[in-house]
Amino acid sequence: MTLGDLRGRSIVGTWFHAPQEGTIEVLEDTVIVIDASGVIEAVLAPDHPAYDRAVTTAIDATDRFMLPGFVDLHVHAPQYPQLGQALDEPLEVWLGKYTFPLEARYADLDFARPRYDALVADLLANGTTTALYFATADLEPTKLLADLAMAHGQRALIGKVVMDHPSNPPGYRDSSATAAIADTRSFIDYVRAHPGNADGRVLPVITPRFIPSCTDEALRGLGALARECQCHVQTHCSESDWAHGYALERFGETDTTALERFGLLGRKTVLAHSNFITDENMGTIARAGSAVAHCPVSNAYFANAVFPLRRALDRGVHAGLGTDISGGPIASIFDAARATVQVSRMLETGVDSALPQAERGLPGSAVTIATAFHLATAGGGIALDLPIGRFAPGYRFDAIAIDSATPDGGIRLFGETAPLAILEKILYTASRANIAEVWVDGRSVGGAKS
Ligand code: GUN
Ligand code: FE
Repeated sequence: MTLGDLRGRSIVGTWFHAPQEGTIEVLEDTVIVIDASGVIEAVLAPDHPAYDRAVTTAIDATDRFMLPGFVDLHVHAPQYPQLGQALDEPLEVWLGKYTFPLEARYADLDFARPRYDALVADLLANGTTTALYFATADLEPTKLLADLAMAHGQRALIGKVVMDHPSNPPGYRDSSATAAIADTRSFIDYVRAHPGNADGRVLPVITPRFIPSCTDEALRGLGALARECQCHVQTHCSESDWAHGYALERFGETDTTALERFGLLGRKTVLAHSNFITDENMGTIARAGSAVAHCPVSNAYFANAVFPLRRALDRGVHAGLGTDISGGPIASIFDAARATVQVSRMLETGVDSALPQAERGLPGSAVTIATAFHLATAGGGIALDLPIGRFAPGYRFDAIAIDSATPDGGIRLFGETAPLAILEKILYTASRANIAEVWVDGRSVGGAKS
């Protein structure tokens, strides 16, 4: 059974969220009141004076477990067709051999439409209510992705990818820095003036792909545009040995300090990967209020290292999770959260059994599933500076309903009643079939039962 449109309604159920990193809050038998635009108006626990009255008209969701919708901070939308393929080369070879040729094909809108449509629908079905997308270097298919995100009702932040450096393939690059900046500006105007986007659920993002793909002129121009338009910014930062070494060679500085110099590090900047950032870089990113999109699944293929997540969090760096489709071959933030815990444990203990235990790992690196849950939800919201990822007044009602009993799903409960034990099972074992329904701004937008 689906619950449908929840705008202007109240709903009673068990809600899990993690507003603070490291702690999970359970709101049992709690009524959430949603206003007509999909914003949470009130969260009423059973001891609240208004509860008894509110619960009589509330929709009953007590046979579900409710989580905030997931925030995916790093998706390459045009790479979806090669998900689970072409992971046999290092990053710099993979880009030229498989990825740029695939992305270039999206200039054909008939090629782009069904692929973008399937991606948005699948991400919603997997519980991703907000996605931060790299589109392609071409303007028209990037507009199409914005249209489709609006049609599906997903919260989407989308960037036309800037690649104006002459080292990019001749058939897949911006003709000049001026043209790249003009197209970026056109896309910002297109999204902001779109008649289907009056509520601003889709946002434009300034998107220099990464330093190797951009000229200094483009990086400088995009920094100025970010200041002028007050847009989000996304790029890749210090991802692999090769990518990290590139900026050191070209500029004699790290990606982080170069991006700061070009005006690209701000409160609404998301840096994908950032595996090789130094302690000093972490300080710079934290002071700017920028965020890291941690992509543990992708990093296993392309990064040459594990992102020191715990150290970055302890230094005040905002962070959330990314699938990095298709660098990561799994389109689910559940899997990103699981991998976050797993790789942090490997970093903590080390991996080379030939070394003595005391020399093997990096003590103090492990994070818990509670931290991963925070990063997947509230942390993603903080990274984007958007009121999403938690159940609190003033936040958007972006949520997923978990059906823990469906025989098609991965969850098996054997009489557990402790909510935190159930949540742990949900986080580790839920599959797509367990995601019964998904809401963005209170609108029902997907799920196995819809
Ligand atoms: N660096 C530049 N482009 C890309 C990309 O598409 N994927 C990943 N993982 N890293 C990149
Ligand atoms: Fe990426």
